[in-house]
Amino acid sequence: MLLILESFIVISILVYWVTKNTEFDKIPGPPGILLLNNTLDFLMDPVKMFYYFRMLSNKFKRLYRLKIGPVKAIILHNPEDIETVITGTTNNTKGFLYDFIQPWLQEGLLTSKGSKWHYRRKLLTPAFHFNVLTNFKSAIEESSQRFVETLGKEINRSETNLTPYVNDFALNSICETAMGTKLDEEDANFGKMYKEGIYKLGQYAVYRAQRIWMYPNFVFQFTSIGRKQAKILKILTSFRDRVIENRRNYYNNLNNNFTYDLTYAENSVEFVGKKKMALLDLLLQAERDGVIDADGIGEEVDTFMFGGHDTSANTLQFTMMLLANHQDAQEMVFNECYNIFGTSDRSGTMADLAQMKYLECCIKESLRLYPPLPVITRKIQQTFKLEKYEIPGGTECAILIFDLHRRADQYVEPQEFRPERFQVEPTWHPYAYIPFSAGPRNCIGQKFAMMEVKLALSALLRRYRLLPVTKPNDIIFVTDYVLRVKDPIYVKLEERSV
Ligand code: HEM
Ligand SMILES: *[C@@H]1O[C@H](CO)[C@@H](O)[C@H](O)[C@H]1NC(C)=O
Ligand SMILES: *[C@@H]1O[C@H](CO)[C@@H](O)[C@H](O)[C@H]1NC(C)=O
Ligand SMILES: *[C@@H]1O[C@H](CO)[C@@H](O)[C@H](O)[C@H]1NC(C)=O
Ligand SMILES: *[C@@H]1O[C@H](CO)[C@@H](O)[C@H](O)[C@H]1NC(C)=O
Repeated sequence: MLLILESFIVISILVYWVTKNTEFDKIPGPPGILLLNNTLDFLMDPVKMFYYFRMLSNKFKRLYRLKIGPVKAIILHNPEDIETVITGTTNNTKGFLYDFIQPWLQEGLLTSKGSKWHYRRKLLTPAFHFNVLTNFKSAIEESSQRFVETLGKEINRSETNLTPYVNDFALNSICETAMGTKLDEEDANFGKMYKEGIYKLGQYAVYRAQRIWMYPNFVFQFTSIGRKQAKILKILTSFRDRVIENRRNYYNNLNNNFTYDLTYAENSVEFVGKKKMALLDLLLQAERDGVIDADGIGEEVDTFMFGGHDTSANTLQFTMMLLANHQDAQEMVFNECYNIFGTSDRSGTMADLAQMKYLECCIKESLRLYPPLPVITRKIQQTFKLEKYEIPGGTECAILIFDLHRRADQYVEPQEFRPERFQVEPTWHPYAYIPFSAGPRNCIGQKFAMMEVKLALSALLRRYRLLPVTKPNDIIFVTDYVLRVKDPIYVKLEERSV
C-alpha cells in the first residue's frame, strides 16, 4: 500500500517536471498542490473565496497565475496590464466563466464574439443614444415613483432591508424598458417566478464555476442543479416569448403603419399610440428590416434583462448605504435637488439630471468602492508578452475590478468614501477606474444606468432622509457574478420636512 503511494508520488513529481509549462510557470502564483495545481484551491464557501481572492491580490501586487484543471488563468489588477488587454479590437472574446450563463443568454451581446458581436453592437448602439434614452425615461420615472411610494411604509421603522426594494425597482425598470411590460401587470405569479429565476441562475453559475467536474454540459445536465436550471430556463423563456409575441401582434394589428428607424434613432423615433417605447420595439423594427431574427430578439432581450437589473439594483443599494453613513454628502445631494426642484415633486428632465453633479460624484464613488461587476474575464487568443512574461494563447484573463478600484498607488485613502475626488481631474491612471469596463466591449447601458440611478435617488432623497444602520465595515461579501453581500444591507428612513 505504502509502496503504491510512494511510487504514485514519485511518478507525479516526474510527470510534473516533464510537463511543466516553463514559460507560464514563471508567472508568480499560489503553488496549489501537486498535479492538480490550483484545481481544489477554490472549493470553499463563497464568502471565504471572496476574501481569498483579496488576499491573493495583496500578496501578488501586479498579477498572478492560476492553473485550474486544464484552465490556465492570469489574474490582473493593475491598470497598465488591464489597458493592454481590454483596449483594441483583438481581445474581444469573453472567458470561460461566461459559459455558465450562456445557456440563458445564448449569444447575446454580452457573451457573443467576433463578427456576430460586432454586428449586433452596431445595431444596438443607437438604442442607447441620448434621445432614445429620453424616451425610455418615462418608464423608469414611473417605477421610481413606485419605489419611493412602497418605501413609504418603512418610515420610522428601526431598520429597512433595502434588497427587495432596489431589486423590484431595477427589475421593473428594465422589464419596462427592455420588454415594454410591467411585471406586476403580468400574471403576478409568473412575474414572481421570473424574478426568483433570474436570481437563482446567477447562484447556480457560481456554484458550477467552483466545481470543475460540472464544467462539461453532459455532466451538468444530470446534476440536481443542472435539472433545476433547465426548469428555470423554461419558465424564463416562456415568459419572455409571451411578452415578445404580444408586442409583435400589437404591431401586426397596426398594419405596419409606423417606423422606428434604428439607424437614425437620434432624430426619428416615433411613438405608436400612447405606448412607451421599449427596446423590444427597436428590435421588432430590426426584425421587419430583416437584420435580426426571432432568436436574436430573444437572446438580446434576455441579455438586457440580465445585464440591466442586478447591476443597477446593486449600485442603488450601495449608494443608499453610503449616503446613510455620510450625512454631510446626503445633505449636499438634498440641497442640489432642492436647487433644481424646489418643493415640487415632479420628476427630473434630462436637463435636471445633468445638473445633479454632486449626486453623480456620489454614484461614481459608490461604483468605485462597490463595482457591481467585481471581476470580468477575457480569453487571450494569441501568445503575447505582458510585463516580463509570455502569456500563451488560450489563457483566461481575469480582471479584478474590485481590487483595481482600491489600489493605494492610485487613490488617496482608497477605502474611504470621498465623492469629491471626482470633482477634480482624476489623479489615477485612466484604466484604474473601470466600473463599466472600457474599450470596445464596455457597457452599452452605462448612460442608461446612470440615468436610472439618478432618477431613483433624486426622487427618494427629496422625500426621505436615510440614516445609518449597516456600516461599510459590517459588510461581508460573497463571491458571485455581481458583488453580493452575505447579510442584508439595512438603513433607516425618516420623512423630510422641508
Ligand atoms: C451600474 C450599472 C451597470 C454596471 C456597473 C455595468 C457594468 C458592465 C460591465 C463591467 C460590462 C463589461 C462586461 C464584460 O466585459 O464581461 C458591461 C457590459 C454590458 N452591459 Fe452593463 N453595467 C450596468 C448597467 C447596464 C444596463 C442598465 C444595461 C442594459 C440596459 C447593461 C447592458 C450591458 C450589455 C448588453 C453589456 C455587453 C456589452 C458588449 O459586450 O458589447 N448594463 N456592463
Ligand atoms: C498542473 O500543472 C502542470 C504544469 O503546468 C501540468 O502539466 C499539469 O497538467 C497540471 N495539472 C492539471 C490537473 O491540470
Ligand atoms: C415618524 O416620526 C416622527 C418623529 O417621531 C413623526 O413626527 C412622524 O409623524 C412619524 N411619521 C410616520 C409616517 O410615522
Ligand atoms: C397611417 O397613419 C397615419 C397617421 O395616423 C394616417 O394618416 C395614414 O392614413 C395611415 N396609413 C395607413 C396605410 O393606414
Ligand atoms: C490583445 O491581445 C494580443 C494577443 O492576443 C496582444 O498582443 C495585444 O497587445 C492585446 N491588446 C490589444 C490592444 O490588442
